[in-house]
Amino acid sequence: MVESTMQPPASPAFAQFKSRLRDDLETLKREERFYTPNLLSSAQGPRITMNGRSYINLCANNYLGFAQDPIIIAAAHEALDKYGFGLGAGRVVCSMTLHQQLEERLAAYKGREAALVCQTGYDTNLAALSVLAGEEDAIISDAMNHASIIDGCRLTHAKRHTYPHADLDALEACLRETQDARSRIIITDGVFSMDGDLAPLPEIATLADRYAALVYVDDAHGDGVLGRTGRGIVEHFSLEGRIAFEIGTLSKALGGVGGFVASDQEVIQTLYQRSRPFMFSTGHLPPMVAAGLIAALDLLQAQPERLTRLWANAGALREGFQRLGFNTGASATPIIPVIVGEAAQAMALGRELRNEGVYVQAFAFPVVPKGAARVRCIVSAAHSQADIEEVLQAFATVGRKLRLI
Ligand SMILES: Cc1ncc(COP(=O)(O)O)c(C=O)c1O
Repeated sequence: MVESTMQPPASPAFAQFKSRLRDDLETLKREERFYTPNLLSSAQGPRITMNGRSYINLCANNYLGFAQDPIIIAAAHEALDKYGFGLGAGRVVCSMTLHQQLEERLAAYKGREAALVCQTGYDTNLAALSVLAGEEDAIISDAMNHASIIDGCRLTHAKRHTYPHADLDALEACLRETQDARSRIIITDGVFSMDGDLAPLPEIATLADRYAALVYVDDAHGDGVLGRTGRGIVEHFSLEGRIAFEIGTLSKALGGVGGFVASDQEVIQTLYQRSRPFMFSTGHLPPMVAAGLIAALDLLQAQPERLTRLWANAGALREGFQRLGFNTGASATPIIPVIVGEAAQAMALGRELRNEGVYVQAFAFPVVPKGAARVRCIVSAAHSQADIEEVLQAFATVGRKLRLI
């Protein structure tokens, strides 16, 4: 082990700087917005050991149970042995054949000409948006879009417009306002991660056609989840050929890490040539991850019963919550919020559920609107019927104790 020797005390300027940070950290603690690490010491699965205690896990995006699948793990092992641990150079200098295979597989999965894999779903939005919209263009973004979209939009010089969540009249007003722009890009999450609701994508596509705009959809929570064969929101709504840019993440249903853009050749080639987040980083998918993801795509096709099980579990949990008298908002997917109102109530619900052995996370303003604090539940295909019943029992006990139902 490398010996550690503590460095001498910081300069007065740095001490002053740190004092400012301490004040800010204290504010976060007072407002119950201070995150302490939760330490997982078991495999990912429907039941986990977190901070030394066993729980039913309702916090993972591991929708299909792929993160702990032995076939995927074996494929990753094989690639680790064959190709080694890291990459040694960025993708432009040295892309591996595995990256190329994965991109071809993702393009086929989405039914698009080509795909580009990036380091994470977050990076993918930076990589894509920083290039796709320039000074003469306008981007029109749903107010509830994911932080990575917001940050990606900050990297462009395009004119930025935001419309209230899923408000088609407001979106149309933005489209009317931006008629002079060279290109208009409407940007939306496919599934919104705090509510589990779907973007009104057919209506958005119709407006895009009417105003000659382009649609950019981030299907992070739709890939592997939505559509008859798990190809995402475009398959779900039969919108093939009507969405210009499809963004996905490899860290959720596919069980690994990474993100991708699927589109037509000119788009993907341009991103490869011009995208700084893609080009100027050595940190691309290690070979074992790329190989595991290819195996995950195989499994998605070979085991459609996982998708069926995921939706059966989502239906059972949502209906169970509703039967108990909880408000599950607009959830139409395996993301199911239990909305209780004030931050303190949501925090108490989260704490009590963890005491009962159910691992959930509570969210309050500013992550969700004021008065709509909640615990968010994400169910997977790997949960058993007994897991779901145990969760509902815990919600019933805690809900009554806290007088929420
Ligand atoms: C819509 C959306 N885009 C992007 C991301 C980021 O993806 P990743 O976690 O793979 O970086 C998320 C995940 O939290 C998301 O919900």
